[in-house]
Amino acid sequence: MATLKRDKGLDNTLKVMREGYLYTSNQRERLGTNVFETRALGGKSFVVLNGKEAAELFYDNDKIERQGTLPKRVVNTLFGKGAIHTTTGKQHIDRKALFMSLMTEGNLEYVRELTRNFWMANTERMEQMDEVNVYRESIILLTRVGTRWAGVQAPESEIEQIATDMDIMIDSFKGLGGAFKGYRSSKAARKRVEDWLEDQVIKTRKGEIHPPKGTALYEFARWTDYEGNQMDSRLCAIDLMNTFRPLIAINRFISYGVLALHKHPEAVEKMKTVKDYPYMFSQEVRRFFPFVPFLPGKTKVEVEIDGVTLPADQSLVIDIYGTTHDPKLWDNPNEFNPERFLDWDGSPFDLIPQGGGDYWTNHRCAGEWITVIIMEESFKYFANKIVYDVPEQDMDVNLNSIPGYVNSGMIISNVRENV
Ligand code: HEM
Repeated sequence: MATLKRDKGLDNTLKVMREGYLYTSNQRERLGTNVFETRALGGKSFVVLNGKEAAELFYDNDKIERQGTLPKRVVNTLFGKGAIHTTTGKQHIDRKALFMSLMTEGNLEYVRELTRNFWMANTERMEQMDEVNVYRESIILLTRVGTRWAGVQAPESEIEQIATDMDIMIDSFKGLGGAFKGYRSSKAARKRVEDWLEDQVIKTRKGEIHPPKGTALYEFARWTDYEGNQMDSRLCAIDLMNTFRPLIAINRFISYGVLALHKHPEAVEKMKTVKDYPYMFSQEVRRFFPFVPFLPGKTKVEVEIDGVTLPADQSLVIDIYGTTHDPKLWDNPNEFNPERFLDWDGSPFDLIPQGGGDYWTNHRCAGEWITVIIMEESFKYFANKIVYDVPEQDMDVNLNSIPGYVNSGMIISNVRENV
């Protein structure tokens, strides 16, 4: 039986924030182990897990508890109080089925069409701009896509404000590290958006507005849980937001993808000619670039991993970035190579940028299919439908800070339709 190695230090939170996505792999390398303990968030002990076997354990509901393990600040800003992410057991499975019921073939095709059409309709606007910041332009566009897809009424005059509020909330997973400067503005953004959505839930229930059947607003407003109770209107607004705030966050993957198209010009041609290339390219963007760093949980019972025994009630984090860059799972993990997905077996435990395991019974992201669809349509647009220049700018992605960004946001200029 191996002993558990430790990153010494009474509280390594600052070190985690300083080393960012690389903190965990730096420690694994230094300590010569796959599993190690560290102290963070006020000196609390966490065991850091990494890799496929660890993901299998992490998503075993008999062994691992997720409820109550997310930092309070992240719940208050990013997900909302009582959100699906914070539920467990029967309540989770019941509400998760509601989210998954939105993922019909028709709804997935609808989000594909919305993305394609909104990008096409946006070309003229981008042609008239001196410079287009892809991060900002795509968050505005996805706010239009997301609100329309969810059946929510969003006046054109408010789209930019909603996009900004969503961006502030999404950024608040900085709060994983404890102290977080933007906490108050995140909470204010959350309140604005919750108020706006709660009003629409109430009006839908009263029959004053009529979102189309099958949309999130329609289904969430009418849904009753396994005991026959409607969601309280505030909670309904919170989980309604959880259907399209993360959709809007796909702007981060889009700016990464446009960067990858620039760095790998051969990909632009392949996007037009190679079957399934938009899919493989999108998967590689999700694997390669930094987004969610790690996810927390806690052992329910004594468990064994990599020859180490962990007691019940031990806090854990699974290293998301580390697993998507684990050399045991990915050849040359730090190389951007979409073709690696030609023969990928579709395992639910290695490509886990949006969590792993089962969609219906685990906390795995409900919107993973939507994410890939929106990415495919966006990258096809940037590769096939427009041409543009890429001016000099700071295109670095700093792995030492969470969350990751293309420093410049990814600027393009001189946009023209590709005729
Ligand atoms: C859960 C990431 C897009 C809805 C999650 C989780 C992650 C994640 C890491 C937690 C997994 C876990 O706790 O085990 C992302 C990223 C996205 C994205 C990086 C793209 C930028 C979406 C979209 C939707 C969505 C488009 C729209 C439906 C959800 C929901 C959950 C979730 C409802 C909670 C599931 C549960 O608790 O069972 N996502 N997501 N996400 N995601 Fe996403």
